[in-house]
Formats: sequence, structure tokens, C-alpha cells
Amino acid sequence: MSQYQEIATVARIEKFANKNFRLTLDCPQIAASAKPGQFVMIRTGIGKDPLLRRPFSVHQTSSGGRLQIYFKVVGRGTEILAQVKTDQEISVLGPLGRGFRLNVNAPAILIGGGLGIAPMLFLAKENCRLKRNCANDLVLLGAREKNEVEHLLDDFKRLGLRLLIATDDGSLGHHGLVTEILQSTILPPGCTVYTCGPEAMMAGVSRICQAQDIPCQVSVESVMACGMGACLGCSRPAKDGSYTHVCLNGPVYDAEDLLWTM
Ligand SMILES: Cc1cc2nc3c(=O)[nH]c(=O)nc-3n(C[C@H](O)[C@H](O)[C@H](O)COP(=O)(O)OP(=O)(O)OC[C@H]3O[C@@H](n4cnc5c(N)ncnc54)[C@H](O)[C@@H]3O)c2cc1C
Ligand code: FES
Repeated sequence: MSQYQEIATVARIEKFANKNFRLTLDCPQIAASAKPGQFVMIRTGIGKDPLLRRPFSVHQTSSGGRLQIYFKVVGRGTEILAQVKTDQEISVLGPLGRGFRLNVNAPAILIGGGLGIAPMLFLAKENCRLKRNCANDLVLLGAREKNEVEHLLDDFKRLGLRLLIATDDGSLGHHGLVTEILQSTILPPGCTVYTCGPEAMMAGVSRICQAQDIPCQVSVESVMACGMGACLGCSRPAKDGSYTHVCLNGPVYDAEDLLWTM
């Protein structure tokens, strides 16, 4: 699998509610080879502040060589990234990790929660492109409140999948957790579930899928220093008692292969 270190140019930076941003980069080599569920490591600052690159899921790519990430400001690196200007150059490494393994012969259920919605758009697009008709597929999105998710809805709607929303405060869609929608929805026979979001949400999705014998792929997060298997900082316990390195073996796993502590 090819990986590139590219000097990308900022094409656009959009600010949404609650410190959420979408960054569009001209990044042709990485955009052309990225697959849904893979991530990039971005050098957010100039010089040594901050020293380490930060990992972000690929939100979507375009045939014109553009790549988007969708992120929240949580600390120093993302704060700097939120202040980039159009035409500024940024160093991007990727695509990294193992992405989702799409089963185009099975109905797809995509479940994104919070910032875990980021990789779901890319996956939804690829799913619909390969299947041509994705009207039987379902996207479930969970957010704390309406303004954390509403700006992303049109991108999903125009793909033609069924879309259901849950918000913690009830300001849009189901009032409650996205896992509650999953639990109460009659899923199409033979479907596959793909999910990314907070650990507790993915653990819940994993439990529901296991109980119904539904294959489930999860994209997990971990703190990452190198993103390439060199620092061993991204280890996570696996079901068999061993440790897996999220940057190399993940971030996407079969849910049943991981140890869930929640
Ligand atoms: C494979 C992967 C994909 C990711 N995709 C996205 C994405 O699409 N959008 C997005 O907004 N974020 C994503 N993240 C998380 C993102 O990398 C962190 O939010 C970012 O590194 C924080 O950098 P910072 O310098 O702003 O914060 P720091 O100052 O480094 O940390 C601020 C706070 O965030 C916590 N934090 C830092 N890194 C992580 C992490 N990897 N996971 C959980 N908590 C963390 C720290 O513990 C601390 O509490 C992803 C992480 C991984 C591993
Ligand atoms: S982040 Fe360094 S080994 Fe995974």
C-alpha cells in the first residue's frame, strides 16, 4: 500500500458550531490512494510546536485531488489547525492504517457518533458508488445536539441512503442515544455494521451486533505519536490477551477481535 508525505495546500477551512471544523486540502497523491477508514497524520504547527503530527480520519476525497478532514478543537494541535489560511502549506502523511472492508453484497448499516461521523461520509460514498443503488442501506448518526450534526446531513442525504439521527438533547431526530435506534430498528437480513465514535457507543454497538450475530467493524482511536508502527504508543488490548497496534493493525477491526471494557 503506497504512503506519501505530501505538502498539501489549504483550499478551504469551514467553521461549524461547537469548535468543529472542516478542512479541505489539495493533496492529490494521498487523496487518490486513500480508502474509507484510513487516516492521515498532519503536522499542525510550524517548527516544534507541537512536535508530533496529529491523526485524523479521511472525511472524503474528490477525483480532483482534494482531501477533507472533519475535526474538533480539543488542544494545542487542533487549535493551530483551526487557524490555517487558504493557500497555506501543510505537511500530510498518509494514507495510513487499515480501513473498512466493504461487503458490497450485504446491506450496510453505518453508525457514526460525535467526531466518529468523520470517516462515515467517505464510507457511505464508496458504498453507494460501488453498489450504485444504496436505498436499502442505513446511516445512523448520533450527536450531542442538532448544531453538531446538521451541517453534514446534506452530504449524506444526496447519496440516497436512509438516514436516522439521534441527539442527546432531542433537538434533532430521536431524543437519546444512537444505540437506542439501532436496538429498535429491524435490520435487513445479512447486513454488515460499520461504526466509529466514542468508545462507549462502539462497545454498545458491538454488544447489539454480537447478540444478533451481525458482523461489525469498528474504527477505534488511540493516542498516536508516529502513526507508522515505530513508537508502539498506540497499543490496545485484543480479545485473545495480546496487544494490537492501532496505527498498523487498525484503526478498523472486527469488533469481536477487541477487548471491550465498557
Ligand atoms: C486514527 C485516528 C483518527 C482520528 N480522527 C479524528 C477526526 O476525524 N477528527 C477529530 O477531530 N479527531 C480525530 N482523532 C483524534 C485527534 O487525533 C485528536 O483530537 C488530536 O490529536 C488532538 O490533538 P491536540 O494537539 O489538539 O490535542 P492534545 O493537546 O494532544 O490533547 C488534548 C486532549 O485530547 C486528548 N486526545 C489527544 N489525542 C487523542 C486521541 N487520538 N484520541 C482521543 N483523545 C485524544 C488528550 O488526551 C487530551 O485530553 C483521531 C485519532 C485517531 C487515532
Ligand atoms: S502510533 Fe507509533 S506505533 Fe502506532
